[in-house]
Amino acid sequence: MLRLLFLLVFNLLFFQPVAILPAQTGPGVTARNGMVVSAHPDASRAGVEILRKGGNAVDAAVAVQFALAVTFPVAGNIGGGGFMVYRQKDGKVSTLDYREKAPAAASATMYQDSAGNVVPGLSMNGHLAAGVPGSVDGMAEAHRKFGRLPWKDLVQPAIDLARHGVVLTQKEASGLNNNKENFTRYNTHLPYLVREQTWQKGDTLRHPALAATLERIRDRGREGFYAGETADMIVREMKTGNGIISHEDLKNYHSVWREPVTGQYRDYRVISMPPPSSGGVALLQLLTIIKPFDLSKSGWNTATTVHVMAEAERRVYADRAKHLGDPDFHRVPLAGLLSPDYLMSRMGSIDTGRATPSAAVQAGEFALRESDQTTHFSIVDRAGNAVSITTTLNGGYGAKVVVREAGFLLNNEMDDFSVKPGAPNMYGLVGGAANAIAPGKRMLSSMTPSILEKKGRLYMVVGTPGGSTIITSVFQTILNVVEHGMTMQEAVAAKRFHHQWLPDQILAENDALTPAVSAALEAKGHKIVYTPAIGRVDAILIRKKRKLEGGADPRGDDTAAGY
Ligand code: DON
Repeated sequence: MLRLLFLLVFNLLFFQPVAILPAQTGPGVTARNGMVVSAHPDASRAGVEILRKGGNAVDAAVAVQFALAVTFPVAGNIGGGGFMVYRQKDGKVSTLDYREKAPAAASATMYQDSAGNVVPGLSMNGHLAAGVPGSVDGMAEAHRKFGRLPWKDLVQPAIDLARHGVVLTQKEASGLNNNKENFTRYNTHLPYLVREQTWQKGDTLRHPALAATLERIRDRGREGFYAGETADMIVREMKTGNGIISHEDLKNYHSVWREPVTGQYRDYRVISMPPPSSGGVALLQLLTIIKPFDLSKSGWNTATTVHVMAEAERRVYADRAKHLGDPDFHRVPLAGLLSPDYLMSRMGSIDTGRATPSAAVQAGEFALRESDQTTHFSIVDRAGNAVSITTTLNGGYGAKVVVREAGFLLNNEMDDFSVKPGAPNMYGLVGGAANAIAPGKRMLSSMTPSILEKKGRLYMVVGTPGGSTIITSVFQTILNVVEHGMTMQEAVAAKRFHHQWLPDQILAENDALTPAVSAALEAKGHKIVYTPAIGRVDAILIRKKRKLEGGADPRGDDTAAGY
């Protein structure tokens, strides 16, 4: 305590002002054999049970994905999509893209009126906002390739949770209560998530129709969702609410294995999600641009550090808006965006004394040389296999539409497309042709499930929800450990900030910056806007002697469970 006091006074007197100290100190939950960190205690427990039974990290991931669809309906899902980054114990890496797709009847102007104006909310709420879900196919495919335990054993825990019910936490009860009006407005029936009296912490929520859907998935695998009864239910639901997802769309949905994007940051190799996520590319760009600055010396959340990171972020998000989109439809100039020369020139344009107005920052030009809720979970098994999954309905409770007979929520992922060039989406992100809507195309994402190696060995599994702030939250969490020496738990709890080019502002969590740091940043020309919380990072660090440390974000009900 005395040492802390001394440091504070010393810093105040002799250095630029210290930032507010991290929100938590000390390590998180530790274990030797396996670790699951997810948004809900019941889902983390379901994952650890699978590990204990001899399942590998992919088996546990399947169980957690389905358990979250029951325990964490705000974002956990079978009606949405996601990305998995997988590193096997021998160092082989792969990624699975189970992102939603635009239905065949979608078009570039489907959310505009006849005068070409964006119809407010149309891509965000209701049946038309939903993309073709990818989660069930993704889990089936991950299991087919890497699973060890029988599929039915992995779906069963979710069925049990759905049948017996889940005890609501305060946050979940509030989420449901706050969306009562939305659920009523955007459904053609009154969904089971709504009841007359308000939900209270400690109430049990049962999901009987979802349990029956999960049983069909347990018994028939992907066909239990994309064909037969469940498909009929989805298509009937579409017809009642002006939606366009068809039997053909469901039948044609397939997840895709993609090569990860990888890069080196000091001693660490970063393995992350390629397009259609912008996350991996942007993360690698950020790390490369800031590499020449000694952030460990300039210190955590000081004006110098925040300025350099925000300036890198504004440049990277300008590239994102122009160049990133579904690689199956748009040629992403990956090599150009990640080329050291290009990134050095981006770095060189940073003025350490002044903010560069976003209006003066444009995306790079490349010759084409080459063809308000999500959730993340991190898993490491006994053998050292690691899974990093971010999965989403997009906004909280997605399109707010429950498939009546099947008991699950549909995503509103279509809003992640650029519905009109330059028109901001719900996260304020802009885009153009690269991310325009086309039938069968995947919408651009910011999700950044990532894995780090240190000197060839598994070191960190990390990711978060948070829309456009995902990339910068992962960026900060990595730097918190690597540059600022935090434990995993400290790193996920530490206060965060974010810049995304447009709007031209630093978004900071309350208490992320001291008044003196804010003043110093404003003097450099930054505008700062405050917000209660950014992201919910769930991560695992492999400490010395193979000790696994879980970092569970205190901003939510997130829980680390190990054995
Ligand atoms: O894929 C994306 O980038 C968004 N749909 C993620 C949404 C999200 O993280 C919402 N969470 N708070």
